[in-house]
Amino acid sequence: MSTIVDAVQAAAARITSRLEAELLMGHSLNRDRAWLYAHARDDLDPDQRSRFETLVLRRQQGEPIAYITGSREFYGRDFLVSPAVLIPRPETELLVDLALARLPQTRCRVVDVGTGSGCIALTLAAERPGWQITAVDISPAALEVCASNSQRLGLEQVRLLQGDLLGPVQDEPFDAIVSNPPYVAANDPHLEQGDLRFEPQAALSAGPMGLAVIDRLIDQATGRLRPGGWLMLEHGHDQGRAVVDRMLRAGLHDVRTHPDLAGVDRVTLGQRPAASRQQNLQSDRVMNGLSSRSDPRARRQ
Ligand SMILES: C[S@@+](CC[C@H](N)C(=O)[O-])C[C@H]1O[C@@H](n2cnc3c(N)ncnc32)[C@H](O)[C@@H]1O
Repeated sequence: MSTIVDAVQAAAARITSRLEAELLMGHSLNRDRAWLYAHARDDLDPDQRSRFETLVLRRQQGEPIAYITGSREFYGRDFLVSPAVLIPRPETELLVDLALARLPQTRCRVVDVGTGSGCIALTLAAERPGWQITAVDISPAALEVCASNSQRLGLEQVRLLQGDLLGPVQDEPFDAIVSNPPYVAANDPHLEQGDLRFEPQAALSAGPMGLAVIDRLIDQATGRLRPGGWLMLEHGHDQGRAVVDRMLRAGLHDVRTHPDLAGVDRVTLGQRPAASRQQNLQSDRVMNGLSSRSDPRARRQ
């Protein structure tokens, strides 16, 4: 026989993390950590011991804890994850913070490109119930995970679309295009290390410099932003300069890179210049499918 606390201690020594050993025990018993502390001296039966041992072995072999337990917290909410999606990272919360700070509180149309688990799109939807949010991913398996999360969080108003970058939202103008796209260079040795070995390659790597998806997204995004709309991109620690250059070349203004909590360049924002009244009217006509002759406002210009 062994007690919960004995089994946790032994596992903690093997996987070199007490916290992870407790998370695995909680997961195997379907209990939270507070319950474990209250029942630390309870005996485990053979089934419980063997279930726990299986989880500890998976962790010892390097499998990410989030894939073993099937969830990860992001912005204070629990998101289901599976090997079909990237495990949400704390640094991505900066992108959410910036979107919440920069965009109007109500009536805002936002698309999250490469939504994965949906952590960005669904967090924005939870924080700003008035926003119209679309989440796009090229991977149908990732979108299934996102759909489960939207159901669990009661956020089914978020529209989920499968496809390549902004392809599924042709001709729709957005107040913001947000994305944490794949940005790791294809030959980066980190892809063979740690959690990254288990995560989907299509969620991580993007061409020789890691900028292949970012380049295509910036090209597509500028024409899909409303005047005054924002493009907000997460990127690698050494890609800030390259992303700034590309956004400026694409005609965006107020381009600036923001560091994450570790002080590392992480998110770059750029804004489509606000249009003149004439341009606004033209853009409204395109959105509403009106010709200039049929728009009475045009004749008053
Ligand atoms: C780095 S993950 C980000 C996932 C999630 N947004 C997050 O922050 O945790 C990138 C996501 O982009 C998706 N993706 C990769 N290439 C894409 C493309 N061309 N069009 C749409 N989605 C793409 C991947 O399937 C993956 O889910």
